[in-house]
Amino acid sequence: MAETVTIKIDGKKYTVESGQTILEICKKLGIYIPTLCFMEEISEGGHCGLCIVDVKGAKTFQRACITEVRDGMEIETNTPAVREVRKTVFEMILADHKVECPVCKRDETCEIRKVAKHLGFPDFEVEPIYRDEGVDNSIISREPAKCIKCQRCVNTCELIPGIGIYGYFGKGHDATVEPPESLSMSDTPCIVCGQCVVRCPTGALTERDDTEKVLEAIYDPDKVVFASFAPSVRVAIGEPFGMEPGEVVVGKLVSALRKLGFDRVYDVNFGADLTIVEEANELIERIKNGGVLPMATSCCPGWVSFVERFYPEFIPNLSSCKSPQAMLGALVKNYMKEVEGIPEENVVHVTIMPCTAKKYEASRPELSGDTDYVLTTRELARLLKRFDIDLSKLPEDEADKPFGDYTGAATIFGVTGGVMEAALRTAVDWLSGGTFEKLEFTAVRGVEDLKFAEVDINGTTVRVAVAHTLSAAERLLQMIKNGEVEVHFFEVMACPGGCVGGGGQPIPSTAEVVRKRAEGLYSDDERRVLRKSHENPYVKAVYEKYLGAIGGEKAHHILHTTYRKRPSWEEVFKRAV
Ligand code: SF4
Ligand code: SF4
Ligand code: SF4
Ligand code: FES
Repeated sequence: MAETVTIKIDGKKYTVESGQTILEICKKLGIYIPTLCFMEEISEGGHCGLCIVDVKGAKTFQRACITEVRDGMEIETNTPAVREVRKTVFEMILADHKVECPVCKRDETCEIRKVAKHLGFPDFEVEPIYRDEGVDNSIISREPAKCIKCQRCVNTCELIPGIGIYGYFGKGHDATVEPPESLSMSDTPCIVCGQCVVRCPTGALTERDDTEKVLEAIYDPDKVVFASFAPSVRVAIGEPFGMEPGEVVVGKLVSALRKLGFDRVYDVNFGADLTIVEEANELIERIKNGGVLPMATSCCPGWVSFVERFYPEFIPNLSSCKSPQAMLGALVKNYMKEVEGIPEENVVHVTIMPCTAKKYEASRPELSGDTDYVLTTRELARLLKRFDIDLSKLPEDEADKPFGDYTGAATIFGVTGGVMEAALRTAVDWLSGGTFEKLEFTAVRGVEDLKFAEVDINGTTVRVAVAHTLSAAERLLQMIKNGEVEVHFFEVMACPGGCVGGGGQPIPSTAEVVRKRAEGLYSDDERRVLRKSHENPYVKAVYEKYLGAIGGEKAHHILHTTYRKRPSWEEVFKRAV
């Protein structure tokens, strides 16, 4: 049995498990202590000094995030003296912070504003001493004047993608948190996953804002502007409008996009069905014809970037299929040109994505023109609020045909293991030459960051692996390189939990929120009449009437892409010094 200690918090006695910090205990008991640097599983804190509490007998106030409870400890969390010191600490943080809340992209999700409210700061009346450094307007946009040096981004980039883009340099007021050699973000090998953005407590890290460019296109009478939205956006976009994470809001989202003025609204899920059809076909071809194995999924641009920069020897393993975003864009643009006679230069594709890396994908020369602008889920929410559109109150509407319908297989693309499960549903049918009853491959589901599974198809065993976060992917690549595992096919998603936990999703994006979004996608899958990508009647019709054979010449030309080696850390440094 776990050891316990008896403590007093704000005069009340509690018996709790030992080995926990004061902050952990207070969180469980529902006692609020303001924090800015601490973050569960990312940063143990100790930097900002906001979480101080009064521990009887201690010479100074203690930081709740790094102080473990001891038997007999008496803690006061909210005395006037504690509040006074917190206010002083907070004023020092604010003085070094460029306060511009009305125009800051963090809006009401800013943790500084939350603390300000708690401490009773009606407005931020402090003498500013911050250095008004420039903004790095890379896709991951840095505004040093809003950085409070909490170092969450440093830990996030070390722990989740495992790359280590940021460091802590200098001391005191002169300290900075930034890439080495003050490199611009776009000059580092950052794979643009956006995980540091989701965890930054302030507006110091945000995604590049593309909303104005989208509005310009919408209001250009010569342009046909079509929007499409990713699987995991439908279970997250309701959150900034007070809806529960995981609530599937496809109909309301379509209405909202129409209200903004898009000419047509399509669904990236259609592109996901198309991806599965092409990808399953590619896998079977590789297995039958001795192609490069294991084959790896290629729909996550963070993962593709990671391979190109850090493991170029695995480039031949990547499926040549474009991502659902790029497939849909390429198909619709070609279709509009050839079937509807609309000149390509007049067609604009705007996607709504859970992902900052999709902005990068859209700019890849290999995929240029497939997608013109990418808005994150957060950007769309901001845009809707600018126009006073309350998504939660909108009626349901349907996406346009023929690129607006999808199967259950497509919708689970947004969760780790989903692409694999969707691909298996199709590959198993095709390899067995029949209609396989089994739909749910539960062995590839769940939060474990690296999973292996085997599927028996008419006596042939297909071995697969699923990884989410690039640190898990790196472990898998090393195992494959060392011959410790043998798989035919593996899926990688850069973000924790897959796209439901993407770097462009609403903040907060805690493990619990991400879990609920994933449940929403699985329930959407269960409710669909058709749950295998190759059964989507609109996908079938597009092949019959326009693309020709699956994996054929035209399909290959429009729906497939190439990869190339890009600079790694070492090469970046050689250039920088
Ligand atoms: S980061 Fe927060 S406190 Fe700073 S300007 Fe933005 S909203 Fe205001
Ligand atoms: S950029 Fe954000 S997460 Fe990183 S140290 Fe500054 S405030 Fe913290
Ligand atoms: S976007 Fe991802 S890779 Fe880039 S700095 Fe942030 S966490 Fe690191
Ligand atoms: S939250 Fe404890 S020191 Fe920052």
